[in-house]
Amino acid sequence: MTARQDAEASTEEHVAPPGAWDAIADGYDRYVAPQEAALANEALGLVDLKAGERFLDVAAGTGGLSLPAARLGAKVLATDWSPAMIERFEARVRAEGLTDAEGRVMDCHALELEEDTFDVTGSQFGVMLVSEQPLALREMVRVTKPGGRVLVIAYGSPAEIEFLQFTIGALQAVVPDFAGLPDDPPPLEFQVSDPQVLRTRLIDAGLKNVKVEASAERPAFSSGQEMWDWLMYGNPISGMLVADLTEEQRATIRQVLDGMLRERMGGNGRAVLTNAVNIGIGTK
Ligand SMILES: C[S@@+](CC[C@H](N)C(=O)[O-])C[C@H]1O[C@@H](n2cnc3c(N)ncnc32)[C@H](O)[C@@H]1O
Repeated sequence: MTARQDAEASTEEHVAPPGAWDAIADGYDRYVAPQEAALANEALGLVDLKAGERFLDVAAGTGGLSLPAARLGAKVLATDWSPAMIERFEARVRAEGLTDAEGRVMDCHALELEEDTFDVTGSQFGVMLVSEQPLALREMVRVTKPGGRVLVIAYGSPAEIEFLQFTIGALQAVVPDFAGLPDDPPPLEFQVSDPQVLRTRLIDAGLKNVKVEASAERPAFSSGQEMWDWLMYGNPISGMLVADLTEEQRATIRQVLDGMLRERMGGNGRAVLTNAVNIGIGTK
């Protein structure tokens, strides 16, 4: 297999198991989740989460959405199938002294929770990437109270995601025939990148008054190394893509990213990338 076929095959077949997420949990907590706070707060505002409401986070990771919800005063249950992600979330809860937030290890395809329990059920970059998404969405609706809200934050069109363009460009510096991500079918991460598909899946899951708003994630980086860490700890798929590269090739990628980011940098020495996101909201 060529490097290109290999990369395409591994992204097409990619469903990272819980252990692969465990392995990146510390880095996810350090480099990735903090960059999501602005988007999470915007989405929680759109879904009108209020202090005292019961909030369930599905595929919560280290708390990119749960921690902002808890800071607003919601009663938070963060669930994820990766024990290490939940441990990192609980460490943050203790460090911040948040009294009404807890974590539980759980597969989002079979939530071990009573129906009609939560005022708001959300998932940021979580249910977006799971293998049986319609089932996972129905589970989110099942555990939400009648009249409660469901929130899904998912990447938009790959063509409008700058981190992908930067990463593909840098990879091509060392693997010139790397063709980018497959698009037929696309990786699971982009299964609802079309807002109409997201809307239809939310309606099919049993939601009413569905709306989908275009927004963006805007991570900021001061160096190629910083962006590399964000990429490698953001999703196990990144490590799979570079698994066959030498240390020298990886260093070249970081240098190329560094040059791209320097061209973008503002006066504060940070380059901000814009990654298209769709925020879907519906009522049970
Ligand atoms: C990209 S991270 C997003 C984490 C978090 N929601 C955030 O906003 O930072 C994806 C998360 O989904 C979790 N995940 C993937 N498949 C899952 C499943 N079937 N059930 C529960 N969690 C899952 C992973 O363990 C990982 O923590």
